Amino acid sequence: MEVFYVSLLCLFILLVSLSLHFTFYKKPTSGKTLPPGKTGWPVIGESLEFMSTGWKGHPEKFFFDRMAKYSSHVFKTSLFLEPAAVFCGAAGNKFLFSNENKLVQVWFPSSVNKVFPSSTQTSSREEATKMRKMLPNFLKAEALQRYIGMMDQIAQKHFAAGWENKDEVNVFSLSKNYTFWLACRVFVSIEDPHQVDKFADPFSLLASGILTVPIDFPGTPFNRAIKASNFIRKELQAIIKQRRSDLAEGKASPTQDILSHMLLTSDENGKFMNELDIADKILGLLIGGHDTASSACTFIVKYLAELPQIYDGVYKEQVEIAKSKAPGELLNWDDIQKMKYSWNVACEVMRLAPPLQGAFREAITDFMYNGFSIPKGWKLYWSANSSHKNPEIFPEPYKFDPSRFEGSGPAPYTFVPFGGGPRMCPGKEYARLEILVFMHHLVTKFKWEKVIPDEKIVVNPMPYPEKGLPVRLHPHKA
Ligand code: HEM
Repeated sequence: MEVFYVSLLCLFILLVSLSLHFTFYKKPTSGKTLPPGKTGWPVIGESLEFMSTGWKGHPEKFFFDRMAKYSSHVFKTSLFLEPAAVFCGAAGNKFLFSNENKLVQVWFPSSVNKVFPSSTQTSSREEATKMRKMLPNFLKAEALQRYIGMMDQIAQKHFAAGWENKDEVNVFSLSKNYTFWLACRVFVSIEDPHQVDKFADPFSLLASGILTVPIDFPGTPFNRAIKASNFIRKELQAIIKQRRSDLAEGKASPTQDILSHMLLTSDENGKFMNELDIADKILGLLIGGHDTASSACTFIVKYLAELPQIYDGVYKEQVEIAKSKAPGELLNWDDIQKMKYSWNVACEVMRLAPPLQGAFREAITDFMYNGFSIPKGWKLYWSANSSHKNPEIFPEPYKFDPSRFEGSGPAPYTFVPFGGGPRMCPGKEYARLEILVFMHHLVTKFKWEKVIPDEKIVVNPMPYPEKGLPVRLHPHKA
C-alpha cells in the first residue's frame, strides 16, 4: 500500500513538473528567444530567493546578481507561482511605465484581489479605470493645500502624545500612528484618538495579512485580513452614508476632507461615485499610504541620527521657517515650498530605502523587448533598486548625498520611489506634505541617537528596522 502512495506521489510530482515545464518554457510562436535567466524550483520558482534577500536586508542582491549573470536589461525568473521577467534599470522602468494598457497592465498577486473584491465586483475594468483617473483630482497639490494646516495640527498632537516628555521611543510604531491618524483626519474627518484606535487594529490586521500566503481558513493571517477589510469597508460605508445626508442638510462642509470632495465630484460625464466605490477608494488610499509613508518617516529618523551634518542642514532650514511664523500660526503652502533641502534629504532616503521595492505588470500581448520575446500572460516586474543602486546612474550609490536632487535632479526614470506613467502613485503629493510636516516637528523639537547602533534592516515587503528603531530623545531647550 505504502509503495502505491509513494508511486502516486512521484507521479504527481512528475506531472506537476512537466506541466510547469511546458507552461514556463513555452516557446513563443515565432521561435524567438525568451530572456535569459532561470525559473528556479518547481511551483515556488525563485520566490524564496527573492524574499530572503529582503529578509536579510539587501533586496537589491536578487536583481544585481541576475543582472550580472544574465542581462542588465531583462531576465527571466518565476515569482509567486507565475513565470516572470524583471525589467531592469531606467530603460526597463520607462518601457513598463509608458506601455500601460498598450502592452502591459497592472497585476496583483491573487491575495490582493481576494481582500479587495468589490472593485472587480461592482465595476467593470473600464469603470475601475475611470475611477482611477479621478483619484488625482482629490490628491493633486492644489486640492491638498487646504489640508496643510490640518496636517500641522495633527502632527502637533501626535508629537505631544507620543514623543514629548519621553526619554526613549520606538520610531516605527510612532510613524505608523502618525500616518494613520493623519489619514483618518484628512480622508474622513476622524480625529478623536479613541475613534482612530477603533480602526487601527483591524487596519493593521489587513495591512499585515494582505500579502501573506492566500489560505482563507479561520485563524490564518489572510483570513483575518479579509475579515478586517470587510469590517473597515462596512464602517466606511456607514460614515459615507451619514456624510451624504449631512452634506445635503448643510451640517457638513464640502471642503472638510477628501470624503466630502469625493462625494461632490463627478466624472466628465457628470457621474458620481457610488458609496461602495468611495469606500474602496478610501480603503485603497489608507492601505497605499500607510506602511509606505511610515517606512519613509522611519528611515528619515534613522539617517538623520547617523549623519549629523545632514541633520544640521535640515534643522537650519526648518528652524528658519518656524521663526518666520507668528505664535500659533500653522504651516502653509509657502512654508512647504521653502523646505527644499528637507525634501532632497527625504528623496535621498527613499532612493536608498525605497518604501515600495517595485511592482508587477502583466503582458497583455506577445511582444519583443531588447531582442527577447515576452509571451502574453507573463508577469513583469520593475524594481526601484535596479536603478537606485546602480553606480552608472548614481555614482557611489551607497553614499548618502542629497545634492543628487539639486537642480533638475536625477534623469527621468532613474529615481522611481513612486513609480511612473499612468499608474504612478496618486498619493505622491500627499506623501510629500505629510513627510515634510513630520520632519518640521521632528527636528525643531529634538535631536536623537539610535539605541541599537547597528540595528538590522528587514525588507518584508517594506523596509523597516528589525526592532522598530528605538531612539533616545534629546529635546531642544525652549
Ligand atoms: C512615501 C510614500 C509612498 C510611496 C513610496 C509610494 C509608492 C507607490 C508606488 C511605487 C506605486 C505604484 C505601484 C505600481 O507601479 O504599480 C504606488 C501606488 C499607489 N499609491 Fe503610493 N506611495 C506612497 C504614499 C502613498 C500615499 C500617502 C497614498 C494615499 C494617499 C498612496 C496611494 C497609492 C495608491 C492608491 C496606489 C495605487 C494606484 C493605482 O491603482 O494605480 N501612496 N505608490
